[in-house]
Amino acid sequence: MVDKITVVGAGNVGATTAQRLAEKELARRVVMVDVVDGVPQGKGLDQWESAPIEGFDSRVIGTNGYEETAGSAIVVITAGIARKPGMSRDDLLNTNAGIVKQVAEQVKRSSPNAIIIMVSNPLDVMAYVALKVTGFPRQRVLGMAGVLDSARYRAFIAEALNVSVRDIQAMVLGGHGDTMVPLVSYTSVSGIPVSQLLDRATLDAIVERTRTGGAEIVKYLKTGSAYYAPSSAAVQMCEAIVHDQRRILPCAAWLEGEYGLSGLFLGVPCTLGRNGLEKIIEVELTGAERAALAKSADAVREPMKVVGL
Ligand code: NAI
Ligand code: 2OP
Repeated sequence: MVDKITVVGAGNVGATTAQRLAEKELARRVVMVDVVDGVPQGKGLDQWESAPIEGFDSRVIGTNGYEETAGSAIVVITAGIARKPGMSRDDLLNTNAGIVKQVAEQVKRSSPNAIIIMVSNPLDVMAYVALKVTGFPRQRVLGMAGVLDSARYRAFIAEALNVSVRDIQAMVLGGHGDTMVPLVSYTSVSGIPVSQLLDRATLDAIVERTRTGGAEIVKYLKTGSAYYAPSSAAVQMCEAIVHDQRRILPCAAWLEGEYGLSGLFLGVPCTLGRNGLEKIIEVELTGAERAALAKSADAVREPMKVVGL
């Protein structure tokens, strides 16, 4: 357990993340910050009142300022607007870049040693904004996307095979957008390559459904985007860091030559531990996978130019 974890943004993803962090007792205090007066306070109090029933002692606090966040070990940033039907993640770019810049400045001042887990979209570009504005080393700025995209992919495979989700090992790399790269060649079911269990057409359909998994939820919800699985994913990353688990998880990390790419955030296999990003693992890719990753990198670079940092 660390002393404090802050979640910025007390909306759907932020509030669900705070509740999950508290239920897992990953921090003594979970601080939720939002610009809307009363919302973080009300949600924080409501969550704290669930503590006697759920049996956790983490104190959830809601606030509109950063004073109470001071010295946080981890800051999860979920502030910003979410997608509505017909919107891509890139449509959120200008609004969320302004919000994330302002949040990152506050985090730098109040929690200079924090590890940032970016959630706001467009994810890879917002992680870049946080890295630039804070000047934190790349070990301490990570983006959450791969854990979520891989979870969706794993859930669809488990469903197709009628087996437990626990037995599906898989990773989705690349940017958090339609160009993401589910690695079929590294997907296994209790060690059995998935290609021995599912035919090509079924796998292709699952890969496509994974790529559009966020939009599938937006289409149902109409007024917002997914938050149960996204908050689970962000909390899994926090857990790996708090407990120094050295989990290998697909995360958006700042690349400095890995996979032949530099100067951008992209989803790659990362070892997460007490220092945040402990290591980027480079796996062998097929020619097609490498080309898909390069295409995904191009899709991330384009909106990066717009934020002008
Ligand atoms: P939401 O609209 O429910 O919550 C966003 C919250 O941010 C609101 O409560 C709003 O008041 C707050 N906010 C706005 N400006 C702020 C500021 N300057 N400081 C503090 N709080 C501020 O949206 P939701 O569903 O929670 O999504 C949040 C973000 O996460 C969106 O950008 C969404 O696209 C992204 N997202 C990313 C995922 C990923 O895989 N990386 C998955 C799901 C959502
Ligand atoms: C998702 O994938 C909207 O990025 C969010 O659900």
